[in-house]
Amino acid sequence: MDFKKNPTTDFKETGKLDKEEAEKEIEALREGIEYHNYLYYVKNQPVISDATYDRLFRRLQELEEAFPQLQSPDSPTRRVGAEPVSKLKKVSHAAPMLSLNAVLEEKEVSNWVDFVKKNSNSPEIIFVLEPKFDGTSVEIAYENGLFKYGATRGDGGTGEDISENLKTIHSIPLRLQMDSIPGSLAVRGEVFMLRKGFQELNKERVQNDEEPFANPRNATAGIIRQLDSKMVAGRPLDVRFYDVLSIGGQELASHWEMLEQFSRWGLKIDPHNMKASSFENVKKGYQNLLNRREDLEYEIDGLVVKVDDLELREKLGTRQRSPRWAIAWKFPPKEEISRIEDIVVQVGRTGKLTPVALLQPVDVGGVTISRATLHNEDEVHRKDVRVGDSVRIARAGDVIPEVVEHIEERGRRRSKEFNMPKKCPACGSDVVREGAYHFCPAGLSCPPQLTRRIVHYASREAMDIAGLSEKTAKQLVDKGMVKNVADLYQLSVDDIRGLEGFAQKSATQLHDAIQANKNPRLDRFLYGLGIRHVGEHMALVLAGNFLSLDAIRRADRKELEIIPEVGPEVAASVEEFFGQEKTRKVLRRLLNAGIKVQDTPGKKGEMPLEGKTFVFTGSLDKYTRSEAEKTVESLGGRASSSVSGNTDYVVAGEGPGSKLDEAKKHGVKIIKETDFEKLISQKQPDGE
Ligand code: IVH
Repeated sequence: MDFKKNPTTDFKETGKLDKEEAEKEIEALREGIEYHNYLYYVKNQPVISDATYDRLFRRLQELEEAFPQLQSPDSPTRRVGAEPVSKLKKVSHAAPMLSLNAVLEEKEVSNWVDFVKKNSNSPEIIFVLEPKFDGTSVEIAYENGLFKYGATRGDGGTGEDISENLKTIHSIPLRLQMDSIPGSLAVRGEVFMLRKGFQELNKERVQNDEEPFANPRNATAGIIRQLDSKMVAGRPLDVRFYDVLSIGGQELASHWEMLEQFSRWGLKIDPHNMKASSFENVKKGYQNLLNRREDLEYEIDGLVVKVDDLELREKLGTRQRSPRWAIAWKFPPKEEISRIEDIVVQVGRTGKLTPVALLQPVDVGGVTISRATLHNEDEVHRKDVRVGDSVRIARAGDVIPEVVEHIEERGRRRSKEFNMPKKCPACGSDVVREGAYHFCPAGLSCPPQLTRRIVHYASREAMDIAGLSEKTAKQLVDKGMVKNVADLYQLSVDDIRGLEGFAQKSATQLHDAIQANKNPRLDRFLYGLGIRHVGEHMALVLAGNFLSLDAIRRADRKELEIIPEVGPEVAASVEEFFGQEKTRKVLRRLLNAGIKVQDTPGKKGEMPLEGKTFVFTGSLDKYTRSEAEKTVESLGGRASSSVSGNTDYVVAGEGPGSKLDEAKKHGVKIIKETDFEKLISQKQPDGE
């Protein structure tokens, strides 16, 4: 049985296998699945269709269920996340995990190159150049080629066991490829989040009124230490390996050789790695990478220069916590200086109070910044920023502007320290503190909370009520015309015409837009309700699993948690939301207003796109690639990145790539975005 080269899916009935046969097949399946996983996620060159992969995977699940004694922690079926833990265990690293000496100036790098030269007998020194990934450093240990554990760096000597979380990252092998693997191997690499995923995660967090992560590094570090590995599965995390911590019984002569060996074992290395034999070439490599920085799918913050020859490395040794054989040449930060004109407190949809610095507008890396979050009171105090201060602003991770620090100005009188108000600046309720954050507990009786709730309900991703801007919502709230979202449906054209900025025509349009969508799709309606921790994606997951609003309303924590992507936090929040009298009242009123939420099609456990595989190529007009893929998945289909004979549809957008040719070659049906929309709207009765 060899599922690597000959992945047959013609299986014997499970009940007819004895334990020995099952064991053999399970082992072969694990090896095969991991191999195809490697071809797909590490090499980007799959040789079997997604459907075949799925069949192998399901067969393995089936056998492991039938023979529970044969389950194993390194089985690919464990990649979906395991039971949550209450605490992360400590792990001693196979060797100290050192950090790098980081520099910004070219001169410091050339001094270091001179220092290396002086300590070498050889006239020519080879350096290896690698991107400096902006992620989090991990150790991964293998025993006889099988994943043993994975850990965070921690203090360099001891880290935390994050094995279950790391196993959900498909580009981390659970078993190494090739025969000549050392008995024990501990390697080091960087786990990071793809830019796109980072932006989506932050969007989700903002939608949920949670603090966005400042940069992909923080996001990765936060996610990778989750106690519930199911919360890690499905996040777009990737890995690059760059060092050996310990290796049993094999000699390596150079860093480059090590990287090549990594590649053969299936440990993903970065395609931008290169060699350089002089400072001039190091400089070229730095400039090259800096120029390409924005085109990469992940964030990098510099170039790491390493001595290639491992013997010379040994000779150069280590100083304190960083080796003398490597240096990190950091890219210039995207930062600017500005002045704080005021600090205001913003009230979010869930009542969270966020201090925001209003700045003299300044251009940071091509974007004009006039506001920057200060996160919470503790952060303001830690950075000691006050109104009137000159401050350093960074666009961390390319997205959210942040005040990094205040700049000392001699002899300048500073204003008073900022303190969070004791009363909500909007409604005057007593502010409460929860952890580092302050909240206004008034809920929907606090105008900005209600305003934001309405805007959220009306947003394109939810009920899609065109023309209901924040300004309009604010007027409706301030005039007492809307006290909860159900009141929107009672507004007459005349009511709306009375608002600033509306005439007969525009008032009629808004009125009609409100009334137009009385049969929302379940996921959009759920998302619009603004349940804590239920962003767009989670709403799709819930809608796809429970199929009706009633079923979700009735679900308790346990039933919610059965769904792989639903962790305890989400489950608790959903249960609590629907348990509240307030919620019941609003839902009742919405019902009376004629809202009838669509059930997700395909009851009886059958999903509308079940068994259909889609491949997207080129850019779409109305969806990002990942939105389109999520839609397919939410309807039970599969989205794949490569075309094969098993692909059902290739959706070709603007500027399609080679996948189009592949589709023609395989005789796969090619459809346009509009056809795709028709296809999914047939399945989604609100027919947008
Ligand atoms: S080598 C002993 N290579 O940068 C040398 N580190 O302090 C071990 N990093 O903690 C590090 N990209 O997390 C190395 N290509 C790369 C890297 C890299 C990112 C991180 C690593 C380390 C930090 C520097």
